[in-house]
Amino acid sequence: MPTFPIYLDNNATTRTDPRVVDAMLPYFSEIYGNAASQSHAFGWAAATAVSTARAQVAELIGADPREIVWTSGATESDNLAIKGVMELFPDPGSHFITAVTEHQAVLDTAKHLEQTGRRVTYLSVDSFGQISLDALRAALTPETVLVSLMMGNNEIGTLQPVAEIGALCREHGVLFHSDATQCIGKMPVSMETLPIDLMSLTAHKMYGPKGVGALYVRRRAPRVRLTAQMDGGGHERGMRSGTLNVPGIVGFGKAAQICQNELADEQPKLVFLRDRLIGRILETIEGTRLNGHPTERLPHNANIAFEGLEADALLAGLPEVALSTGSACSSEAVSPSHVLSAIGLGSLARSSVRFGLSRDTTEEEVDWVVSKLGEVAGRLHRLK
Ligand SMILES: Cc1ncc(COP(=O)(O)O)c(C=O)c1O
Repeated sequence: MPTFPIYLDNNATTRTDPRVVDAMLPYFSEIYGNAASQSHAFGWAAATAVSTARAQVAELIGADPREIVWTSGATESDNLAIKGVMELFPDPGSHFITAVTEHQAVLDTAKHLEQTGRRVTYLSVDSFGQISLDALRAALTPETVLVSLMMGNNEIGTLQPVAEIGALCREHGVLFHSDATQCIGKMPVSMETLPIDLMSLTAHKMYGPKGVGALYVRRRAPRVRLTAQMDGGGHERGMRSGTLNVPGIVGFGKAAQICQNELADEQPKLVFLRDRLIGRILETIEGTRLNGHPTERLPHNANIAFEGLEADALLAGLPEVALSTGSACSSEAVSPSHVLSAIGLGSLARSSVRFGLSRDTTEEEVDWVVSKLGEVAGRLHRLK
């Protein structure tokens, strides 16, 4: 028997790796200096730790440490990338392209741009959740400044063809931002080869602490410029002011180092468990289908529709497992997720469950969850 509860909501957040916590602890009450204090050893020690973490995060993504800007998480990184670039082009006609399945941090930022007079194109996606390169090509105009398309979707796991998207943007002299929050630490991502100019990442999706993230900002070919969104002491080379969260940054660095060392073993393990989970559910539970792309998907995500069943009822029958549904609750109404609606699921959106795996997930847990899901689904079908 596995140990309960079983945590399968790793697309929402991951457990902080105990090795990360150990690395962070001295930076609260022992090495607690301000990394910007240059006149004493407390500050120097903090600055050294920040610079080690910067190198660790940079190494994981094949970047130069000077291309890493610390933020409070991917929401802030998305805001900084998009507003930071678009504010350099204040003309009402300046144009931004994104997709309907982006994270709210990008979509709400796009709405903000519209409110300030910019033109925004929201690309639609196919039934797997991918955008069309032809549609992107057609949407690009001489006024287009920036394209923002995520690398891997947090709900359905679909990967976008970011290499091709980036190449198209380069051809048109347009900057490309990608929210890679769900991919970093789960699959190899290298800025040495990917034509991405700005990239958002966050520590808590890769076994690091919450409240710390980074924005990758390309320094060469092209050198990307940004308007700061946080004014103040001029930290992070003027791009993001505010005293650095040293323990969080140290944790982010350690999490990156562990991913760097273990990714080659972890990725195939995640893919094996994900495919076992998907395969067994589709084989043994009537009326199930996979949402998102069958192969071009995150190693640690599965999203399954259970035809004729309410996802909330399924989850209520599985109190031993932490899962999430394809619904988002606003104040009173529960509305189907914008991503599931965008891939054309219709009413099946309310019947969909997201499974997020991690480095701690075991085969025993996967098998137990599939078998219990089968029982609960069978019972709910009989009750209809
Ligand atoms: C794709 C994506 N972008 C952005 C975010 C927001 O990240 P953070 O919680 O670090 O602000 C998340 C997490 O929910 C995400 O999955």
